[in-house]
Amino acid sequence: MKTKPKTVRISIIGFGNVGGGVAEVIRRKRAEIARKHGMDIKIVGIADLRGVIVNENGLSEDAIMKLKRGGKPEDMTTLEVIKEIEHEVMVEATPTNVETGEPGLTHIITALESDKHVVTSNKGPLALEYRRLMELAAKRDKEIRFEASVGGAMPIISLIRENLAGNGIISIKGILNGTCNYILTRMAEEELPYEHVLKEAQEIGIAETDPSKDVEGIDTAVKLVILANSVFGMNATYEDVEVTGITEITPDALKLANDAGYMIKLIGEVDREGCLKVAPRLVPKEDPLNVGGTLNVATIKTDLAGDITVIGKGAGPIEAASAILSDIIRIYS
Ligand SMILES: NC(=O)c1ccc[n+]([C@@H]2O[C@H](COP(=O)([O-])OP(=O)(O)OC[C@H]3O[C@@H](n4cnc5c(N)ncnc54)[C@H](OP(=O)(O)O)[C@@H]3O)[C@@H](O)[C@H]2O)c1
Repeated sequence: MKTKPKTVRISIIGFGNVGGGVAEVIRRKRAEIARKHGMDIKIVGIADLRGVIVNENGLSEDAIMKLKRGGKPEDMTTLEVIKEIEHEVMVEATPTNVETGEPGLTHIITALESDKHVVTSNKGPLALEYRRLMELAAKRDKEIRFEASVGGAMPIISLIRENLAGNGIISIKGILNGTCNYILTRMAEEELPYEHVLKEAQEIGIAETDPSKDVEGIDTAVKLVILANSVFGMNATYEDVEVTGITEITPDALKLANDAGYMIKLIGEVDREGCLKVAPRLVPKEDPLNVGGTLNVATIKTDLAGDITVIGKGAGPIEAASAILSDIIRIYS
C-alpha cells in the first residue's frame, strides 16, 4: 500500500527573481517530488514589499499570479506570516545587505524562534551573523540551509558536507561571481576595454546598474566568508577578506597572459590556515578553473579524494531555486 506523502508547508519571503523561481519549480515538480521523495510541498504564504498572501491549505496558482500582477494583498505583515501562519520551512529570498543583514536577518531569527526550518539564498545574514544563526538553529532544533547563497545551482556546501563527509578540506578556490567572469571572458576574447564590456553586460542584464559589489570583488568575498564559516568552522566576516576587484584589468594584461598560456580570472580562495583572499589571478588555460562566460567553478582540495572541481550556473531564478528545492528536500531525507 502506498503511504500518503508528508505535507511540507513553506513560506516564501521575498518574491523577486529567486522567490518567483521557487514557486515556479514547485509548480513544475510538485507531483514528481511527492512520488520520488514522499513530500507534498505546499506554499502557504508569500511576502514581499507589495504585501503578503496566505492560505493555510496551500496558495493556488491563481492567487500567486494575482500577487505578481499587483492584486490586493492580505492585511498582514511579513513577520506575522513567518510567526503566525503554520508551516515547516521559511524560504528567505530578500535582497542581500552586507552592511546590516536586514531584512533577512530578522526574518531568519523570527522563523527559527517560531520553530521553522530556514532555507535561504540571502548572503547578508550568513556573512554577518553565521555563528549566532547556527547557535540559534541548534537551540531550537531546526536547520538552516543555504546552498543557493554560494554558487547558485552549483553544489558546493552540501557536496562537501555530505558526499565528502569523510574528507578533511584543505582549501577551496574558484570563480564565484558570474558577472566578473563574463566581463573578463569577453575582454580576453574580443580584446575590448573594461568599460565597454561592462556597458554591454549591463545592457543584457548580466551586470547590475550599480555593478560595484560584483566588480570590486565584494560579492565573491561575501561568498568566501560563508564557505570559511560553514566549511572551515571559522568565525570570519567580510572585514577578514583581502579583496581586489577587476576594475583595473586592461586588455593588454589579458593579452600578455594569453600569449603566455594563461587567463586572468577573479579567484576567491579560502584555506584551513585561515587565508581569505579575492584577487585577479593567472589561471593556466588547461586548468579546470578556466571556465568562460557567466559560469561559476570551484576546486575543493581534500585530504583523501584529491582535487574535486564543480562547475555550474551561479545565478538565475530557476538555478537558485534548484538549490533551494534540494535544500528543502534534504531537511526531510
Ligand atoms: N538572482 C539570482 O540568481 C541569485 C542567485 C543566488 C542568490 N541570490 C540571492 O537571493 C536573494 C534574492 O535575489 P533576487 O535576485 O530574487 O532579488 P530580487 O529580484 O530583488 O527580489 C527580492 C525580493 O525581496 C523583496 N523584499 C525586499 N524587502 C523585503 C521585505 N522587507 N520583506 C519582504 N520582501 C522584501 C523585494 O520586494 P520588491 O520587489 O517589492 O522590492 C523582492 O520581491 C538575494 O539575497 C540574492 O543575493 C540571487
